Amino acid sequence: MQAMGLMSTDIAIRLPLIHPPEPRKEHLLSNPTDSIFLGKTKWLSTPVFWDYRRLINPHIAIVGITGSGKSYLVKTFITRSSIVWDTNALILDWTGEYEKWVRQAGGKVIDLSKEHLNLLDLVGMGSGERTKQIISALDILADLQNFPKEREEIESALEKVYKHKKSPELKDLLSILKEPRAVRMIKRLTLQGSDFFSGKSTLTFSSLLTSGLVCVNLRSLPSEELRSLAALTILQFTKEMMRRQKLQEEKGIKLFVVLDEAWKIASDERSEVLTIIREGRKYNFALIVSSQNPTDVHKTILSNSGTLFIMRLVLREFRKYVQESLNYSDYVDSEISKFSVGDAALHMIFSGQQAKSSTFIMQKIDGEEPLFVFRIKGESMEIEMEREQFMRALYELGVNDEQMAKVKDRFEKAEGTLSGTKLIEMLENFGYSKAAILAFMRKLGVPEKGLIDMFALARRKRASRGMVDAVLED
Ligand SMILES: Nc1ncnc2c1ncn2[C@@H]1O[C@H](COP(=O)(O)OP(=O)(O)O)[C@@H](O)[C@H]1O
Ligand SMILES: [Mg+2]
Repeated sequence: MQAMGLMSTDIAIRLPLIHPPEPRKEHLLSNPTDSIFLGKTKWLSTPVFWDYRRLINPHIAIVGITGSGKSYLVKTFITRSSIVWDTNALILDWTGEYEKWVRQAGGKVIDLSKEHLNLLDLVGMGSGERTKQIISALDILADLQNFPKEREEIESALEKVYKHKKSPELKDLLSILKEPRAVRMIKRLTLQGSDFFSGKSTLTFSSLLTSGLVCVNLRSLPSEELRSLAALTILQFTKEMMRRQKLQEEKGIKLFVVLDEAWKIASDERSEVLTIIREGRKYNFALIVSSQNPTDVHKTILSNSGTLFIMRLVLREFRKYVQESLNYSDYVDSEISKFSVGDAALHMIFSGQQAKSSTFIMQKIDGEEPLFVFRIKGESMEIEMEREQFMRALYELGVNDEQMAKVKDRFEKAEGTLSGTKLIEMLENFGYSKAAILAFMRKLGVPEKGLIDMFALARRKRASRGMVDAVLED
């Protein structure tokens, strides 16, 4: 018995720890001030830092069922990247799920039902090139290639309007088309309610790429076709803009373009998404494509993105599609089927003489509560501050936990914005003196003029409710 016992310990000691291979530390560790931290590897707990310079391209694909943590990962990426590299982000939001977060994080939301983007804009391109892009978009979205006569007519009409007019619009194109089907195709884009692409542009395209966090709400467009056309056009313009920029030796990624659930334009062979991924590193922006259905994401995107996150996938068919594109082991596949929220397998293609790829399993993505911005509004002013900083200031004022939760709740119910007057009222109700509140508001950076207005309004409101508090009137 004793001999047996000895033997098994002996074997146990000599058995190596069995786990699937993980990339070498040199591939994953990086300077935290110049890369993005994502979490740790499952077996060796090696910290994983995302550094696009080590990868064949900076583009990222994410697949996983609804609720597996895709959007959370995107938000984490964008937040950290903005801190580390000051990266801008342009989110093409199909389902409207980013809007609230973007507002809270102090970004800008663009409502396409109120804007126009002239489809014929050149944004610095030659007209021949833009014509090709427009035709290609119509091929993908309106099946134009199956109507050669109409295709031909639209193409030559585009050449004509570009030749005869300095900044042509869709109506100019429409006025010279004759083929009924071609007329119908273009006319659809000019009808009221669907006329996002006609008329002069109200969006300054270049500013979308350099304004911090920008969310383009595609849901506000009336059809899937228009949403896809908008996304494709924005991608085409972005690519042009980025291409024409001199490749500065600047550190970091300048722009993330996020396509969440963009199935139509991520599955088509001719899509701009594929060109960008294929052409790899030369753009100084990174595309993030995310989808709940991997078969809607073209194999080229799956197998050529420098980084692919595979989150929980349940359907065998979907798992098989991904596994076949990447060639990882059945073991990894079975782990993927057991994932819970935030778990991910990471597939990276490293650059270097022999592009080596590796698929490995991570512990939960180490996301962070995104930076939320709280805004305090007055009649003529508005200040913004990071939520944590605001909560700290409240804490220093001596506000207790319950009161703190009340204030936070008020802000969050109003998507992060609260009037200064309301805040003053709440603090008064907690029992703070006017002097203490004044000092607190000054510390937050509310300008004097704003303060006077806020207190005056708070007083008027109290008076009109007939509850003038003599103590607070000085
Ligand atoms: N890594 C994670 N750590 C903690 N919570 C997470 C993580 N990933 C996702 N969650 C939470 O799970 C929920 C679903 O995530 P979400 O990103 O919206 O999924 P998806 O975009 O894949 O549908 C959200 O409430 C999110 O906050
Ligand atoms: Mg999502």
